[in-house]
Amino acid sequence: MENKIGIPTHIAIIMDGNGRWAKAHGKERYEGHIEGVVSVKEAIRSAVRRGVRYLTLYAFSTENWGRPIEEVDALMELFCRSVTNETDELVAEGVRVRMIGRRDRFSERVREHLLSIEERTAAGEKLTLLLAFDYSSREEITRAAKCIAERVAAGEIAASEVSEQMVAESLYTAGVPDPDLVIRTSGECRLSNFLLWQASYAEFYFPEVMWPDFRADEFDHALEVYASRNRRFGLVAKE
Ligand code: FPP
Repeated sequence: MENKIGIPTHIAIIMDGNGRWAKAHGKERYEGHIEGVVSVKEAIRSAVRRGVRYLTLYAFSTENWGRPIEEVDALMELFCRSVTNETDELVAEGVRVRMIGRRDRFSERVREHLLSIEERTAAGEKLTLLLAFDYSSREEITRAAKCIAERVAAGEIAASEVSEQMVAESLYTAGVPDPDLVIRTSGECRLSNFLLWQASYAEFYFPEVMWPDFRADEFDHALEVYASRNRRFGLVAKE
């Protein structure tokens, strides 16, 4: 489906700064994540309202397993609680949730919640919310390479037939258009193993605000920044 002019079809967000926000407010780190969930809800509502079709949120990176166990547990619990509390509203808003990342390292409980939110929101047509959970872009690309190598080894395709499209279709994001806009909050200017293939032609925006302060007004501002950019995709500017 065509998008409104100037509105990105796909926005991907690295939600950074929950810990620093908590520290600045004299709170525990997990309280920053709780406040971050409020921003998640506002981002989803804003995306639906503005006609964005795909929203990808980096909720848990593969590297995040290395955090203290209490923080990992708190994030998993927060995810399960959010699924329980928010699924009805997501269904009502027409949001479909799809998880991207490894699924084999979660507890049974987290896996059940993931399946539940994907199944219950499957008919959503307004916005597809991609939740990057135990996600690593290098792992995703390596997995795609293995999958294609197996097809070559099985004689299904010739090595010379391997194409960019084939790689794209072997990623977790198969069927999803590349992000037009990648946002990372908290002033950090890195991709941190997020959508390395998919973000090849994306616009980048690095607001200084911490994720818990990235509310509807900040989301709208990001759309204004995007609309002011001149995307050329390696071509020359139109006169
Ligand atoms: C980065 O802040 C944020 C995360 C690692 C987790 C993001 C998770 C949420 C916003 C809540 C859970 C999500 C869902 C979808 C229910 P940080 O801890 O790295 O902050 P810091 O860099 O200031 O320490």
